[in-house]
Amino acid sequence: MKIRNEFLPFSRPSIGETEINKVVSCLKSGWITTGALAGELEDKFCTLTSASRAIALNSATAGMHLALSAMDISAGDEIITPSLTFASTVNMIALRGAIPVFVDIDYGTLNINPGLIEEKITSRTKAIIPVHFAGAPADMEQINKLAAKYNLTVIEDAAHAIGTYYKGVHAGGFGNIAIFSFHPIKNITTGEGGMITINDTLLEKKIRLLRFHGIERDAWKRYGRGGNPTYDIAAPGYKYNLPDLLAALGLAQLERLQELNLRRSHLAGLYQNGLKDIRGIDLPEVPVYDHAHSWHLFIIKVVAIKRDEFMQRLAEYNIGYGLHFPPAHLLKYVQEKYAGNIGNLAETERAADQIISLPLFPDMQDADIEYVCDAIKEILHHGR
Ligand SMILES: Cc1ncc(COP(=O)(O)O)c(C=O)c1O
Repeated sequence: MKIRNEFLPFSRPSIGETEINKVVSCLKSGWITTGALAGELEDKFCTLTSASRAIALNSATAGMHLALSAMDISAGDEIITPSLTFASTVNMIALRGAIPVFVDIDYGTLNINPGLIEEKITSRTKAIIPVHFAGAPADMEQINKLAAKYNLTVIEDAAHAIGTYYKGVHAGGFGNIAIFSFHPIKNITTGEGGMITINDTLLEKKIRLLRFHGIERDAWKRYGRGGNPTYDIAAPGYKYNLPDLLAALGLAQLERLQELNLRRSHLAGLYQNGLKDIRGIDLPEVPVYDHAHSWHLFIIKVVAIKRDEFMQRLAEYNIGYGLHFPPAHLLKYVQEKYAGNIGNLAETERAADQIISLPLFPDMQDADIEYVCDAIKEILHHGR
């Protein structure tokens, strides 16, 4: 096959006139930091998820930090999480002085295996953090049931799950804390950004305070007409607010969510079909329970050859790729700090050596998918 001249990236945000106009309008408005647009994005997230409250942030990582801080997670507390997750979750657990307790995954879906959670719960466990991996929902009924039995908080890592539904309920719609990401590769983006959804009003208040230095009144209330610019701080906080300039982009993207996710789903279908007869790779399995997949990522497992060799070969075809994720329990500091806490994670390690995320973004052409499938066929069956 002929090698394309133009590099096919692994991901690229879909930014059109709607987004540009909305951002320009914010720029012209005279108010670009957190204000009415961030508030509007929060309201729209409540509508999307059915959560009663939403808090706009400058990243999902900030959201995890705020959630764990507001819960007073501290030294000796244990937090259950899959190891196959982004390092930011484990970093935030570590930065609170707490201990990550890793649970193995289901090899097919890459989601946390709910059947392995209960044996990891101790008197020190405070929370479970399932990830809706690649946009496929974790088994929330099982997880919520365990959390209720042991009085644990569930923090859904919904970074991949904008438009993900489990049995008709959107991620974040179960009454848990949920954290979404608007990083540029995500299903909708604000450049960088994130959102917490939550139903607990006390925790929400704490998170809102911690989001902005610990100051009670938002800037737009302090600097608006007749506003009171003084403030007091009862407890120190962070600087994790989402500016309106970015919220403007997010609002325009959210308007397009259905269109963007439909396109992702169509492209994922083309991959499933185009790759189904190729020996030497495993395709992503979808959960057996009723769900809507957001197709944030399309992750295959390379079993015939070494994944590093496969990546190198894709690069020769001018094709980009991603790796989601190097397992957290194998990170240097995690190995050093929590060596005694890492149990059997056989399926995580098996998948970790094989996974690779193929290009998937709404502005890809159908022909791009065909090109990737043909390249994979050549790499695995014929060589070049
Ligand atoms: C599973 C998961 N959790 C958390 C995050 C952190 O998101 P952010 O980059 O918005 O902090 C990411 C981002 O890549 C992610 O993939």
